[in-house]
Amino acid sequence: AAPARPTSTISDVDVVAHRGSSGAAPENTLAAVRLALRQRADVVENDIQRTADGELVIVHDTTLTRTTDVEQVFPGRAPWNVGDFTLAEIKQLDAGSWFDPAFAGERVPTLREWVEAIGGRAGMLLEPKAPALYPGIDIELDKELRSMPAFRSALMRDDVVVQSFDHEWLHGYKDLAPDVPVGLLFGTRPTSAQVTEAATWAEQVNPALGVSEQATIDQVHQAGMEIHVWTVNTGQDMRRAARWGVDGIITNYPQVLRDIVGH
Ligand code: G3P
Ligand code: CA
Repeated sequence: AAPARPTSTISDVDVVAHRGSSGAAPENTLAAVRLALRQRADVVENDIQRTADGELVIVHDTTLTRTTDVEQVFPGRAPWNVGDFTLAEIKQLDAGSWFDPAFAGERVPTLREWVEAIGGRAGMLLEPKAPALYPGIDIELDKELRSMPAFRSALMRDDVVVQSFDHEWLHGYKDLAPDVPVGLLFGTRPTSAQVTEAATWAEQVNPALGVSEQATIDQVHQAGMEIHVWTVNTGQDMRRAARWGVDGIITNYPQVLRDIVGH
């Protein structure tokens, strides 16, 4: 049988910078965004959570301990959940030194700062992290995103996707924002029933590299959706995924992938 996407070539693969260019700069900071843009990433990925006072911020873990100095700055506030701190408190934290002292003083960005840093120079792959912890974040996210000209123009260019591991939450968000493309994240191999169901409402199926194979890519394409695999950090794995015909590769090393993909 003919391949599902006979015209796809390695140069069609999107370079997606995972948490920014997070192999060379502290993840989810504006330094990581700026580096990804300099390395000509096609898309930048992030993780979104909510502060105690309702601000949307860019951070991966549900606690602040791994990627900031929160334990030193607020020693009495264990377990240091993102949702227990106000934005003003979070802005006091150093989000760069843990990675390398050269990045001392980097801050946890707000979603607004992050979108404005992208400024239309790359696509955006937005991941509300653990949204069930933040009731109402679907409505707040939609309102905040649509208030930003950089988001509205990205939406018109078809250059933004909201993705989540929480498929039920994502389906609710899609009902609220039907014009925003959405992607289902999978840590286990998507079954054919899951792919068929996803195709009734989603635009992307984005599984871990380790649970993906050629048949997964073909199945998602045949169902009419795109597929991005994560998190792909060696040249060998990047070439393997590209040969499968994936639409995008999510990596901590966008420069390595750019050198393989070219242009
Ligand atoms: O974009 C895919 C990837 O980010 C999903 O896993 O834990 O890095 O958010 P995680
Ligand atoms: Ca993520």
